[in-house]
Amino acid sequence: MYFPEVRMRRLRKTENLRRMVRETNLTLDDLIYPLFVIHGKGVKNEIPSMPGVFQLSIENLVKEAREAYDMGIPAVLLFGIPEKKDPVGSDAYSDDGIIQRAVRELKNALPDLVVITDVCMCEYTDHGHCGVLDESGYVNNDATLELLARSAVSHAKAGADMVAPSDMMDGRVAAIRDALDEEGFETVPIMSYAAKYASAFYGPFRDAAESAPKFGDRRAYQMDPPNVREAIREVALDIEEGADIVMVKPALAYLDVIREVRETFDHPVAAYNVSGEYSLVKSAGKMGWIDEERVTLEILTAIKRAGADLIITYHAKEAAKLIGG
Ligand code: PBG
Repeated sequence: MYFPEVRMRRLRKTENLRRMVRETNLTLDDLIYPLFVIHGKGVKNEIPSMPGVFQLSIENLVKEAREAYDMGIPAVLLFGIPEKKDPVGSDAYSDDGIIQRAVRELKNALPDLVVITDVCMCEYTDHGHCGVLDESGYVNNDATLELLARSAVSHAKAGADMVAPSDMMDGRVAAIRDALDEEGFETVPIMSYAAKYASAFYGPFRDAAESAPKFGDRRAYQMDPPNVREAIREVALDIEEGADIVMVKPALAYLDVIREVRETFDHPVAAYNVSGEYSLVKSAGKMGWIDEERVTLEILTAIKRAGADLIITYHAKEAAKLIGG
């Protein structure tokens, strides 16, 4: 059958008809809200390149997380900005580190909120790389594994519900799984940044987390943007090593990767709608060049349509307001 018997517009006629045949629905259950925590009291520093995103001291973090949780957002992803940085990122695995303190207070205030911690060295090292360096300035993979494992254990000890390694060292999921199990945290899941690309879209995040590398770039450990078969290998390895949820990052320029991962594996897939993607929407919105609310929902829905079960997004609260409870 063809036109004029077939008319695709019939089911587009009213909003209720469109609702009935809608294939993808963004829900509150899909959202993970990233937050930045910093030392001090009463701190709420807006990130100039990320309007609406703040470095928060712990009591403000709890307030923000509570607001999100009350809107129906089930989970937050925490990034810490330490007071002092050193070559081996000591604050990353100190029981008194910024993340560890923040997790304790958050879980105390909001026991049912799912608190996920980013596990990486770049916010904590003075050189800003995601691991420790050898003499030539190359990130030493195997020496970094132990520090990542210690960080993950210290997060779990503080009460983290899930850990999310974002460093892209080889073997880190297995190292973290072993360490967690050895310390009695066998029920703490790992969400691995499995296919994480060396992307220019992370620029604003590095302002927020104060984690830009002091020299060079991350191309010797994060993935090369043109590759997708390699992403499948990365995800397969992380699953083999024990990842519970696998992530593709960034999201928008990698929707094909999300789709490919979704079709190849049965694990839950997360996608990170990263800082640069957020900043583009915010800046064009501020200029009045786009309808910011509609663009936000269109983007998040596209990420879900591509195959993501979970979306890490700075738009989480805005999206929650738009889609309602
Ligand atoms: C840490 C980390 C980064 C992001 C998440 N975890 C930055 C990086 O790899 O440089 C980026 C998140 C974003 O851009 O929103 N390694």
